Amino acid sequence: MAEQAKKNFVGGNWKCNKTLSELTDLVKGIQGGMDGMNVDVIVSPSPCYLANIAAACAGSGVMCSAQNMSATGFGAFTGEIAPDQLKDLGIGWTIVGHSERRKYYGESNDEVTTKVANALANGLKVIACFGETKLQRDDKCTDQINQISLAAIIKGVPADKWCDVVLAYEPVWAIGTGDVCGEDEAERVCGMLRKFVSNMVNPQVAQAVRIIYGGSVKPKNCQALIAKPNIDGFLVGGAALKVDTFVPIIKSASKRKLRSML
Ligand code: PGA
Repeated sequence: MAEQAKKNFVGGNWKCNKTLSELTDLVKGIQGGMDGMNVDVIVSPSPCYLANIAAACAGSGVMCSAQNMSATGFGAFTGEIAPDQLKDLGIGWTIVGHSERRKYYGESNDEVTTKVANALANGLKVIACFGETKLQRDDKCTDQINQISLAAIIKGVPADKWCDVVLAYEPVWAIGTGDVCGEDEAERVCGMLRKFVSNMVNPQVAQAVRIIYGGSVKPKNCQALIAKPNIDGFLVGGAALKVDTFVPIIKSASKRKLRSML
């Protein structure tokens, strides 16, 4: 791979929130606050608004992402969205394996492998999420659980597709709770994950891949997290629903010195 700058990455996962006009205003507000920023930003609306939000993002520094995607293609799969349909709408990104998909809709690591492979094979970029629950953390299984989930993601990524993958470490106990993972522990886990990628894939991919943190990221804690060498950005839920809280988080990731990648 040629030497090039690695851009930080900030995703706003809007989950199942807000109306179209509210989300359109939110996009405008984010765009208005992003002048001169050098960071990849995606926003992820409910599927029914994907086309509208993609249109609102067009030509700006904000990209639109799906929150989920089918493990299958076109066919008799009621309620699913095929990768070809996302592409047809001009959507370039999808989140896969978010903890709410895993918890409420039974998404397994095997399904995540299939979805990651399906998305990448169809030219979509992927934000692949994983993280330990509180119980697993209390049982001191954090590293083991995350390595199992990451191994399942790695299985779905062809060697030449790593540039289309962002890895999102999101401890489940920190999501939507206000209970952020301390920056030292988040850095420890993200560093461990990078080493795991180095061993399982290769050191070049490990250095180049963006590993982001998610779970109660707010303007007050983003600076300390982004200052850590192995944290390349954020996946943001609650704080992405307001311009006043999302833009400062984007700004913190933009200000950070770009790291070179092999
Ligand atoms: P939160 O959500 O920022 O509200 O904790 C993060 C996420 O679900 O990705």
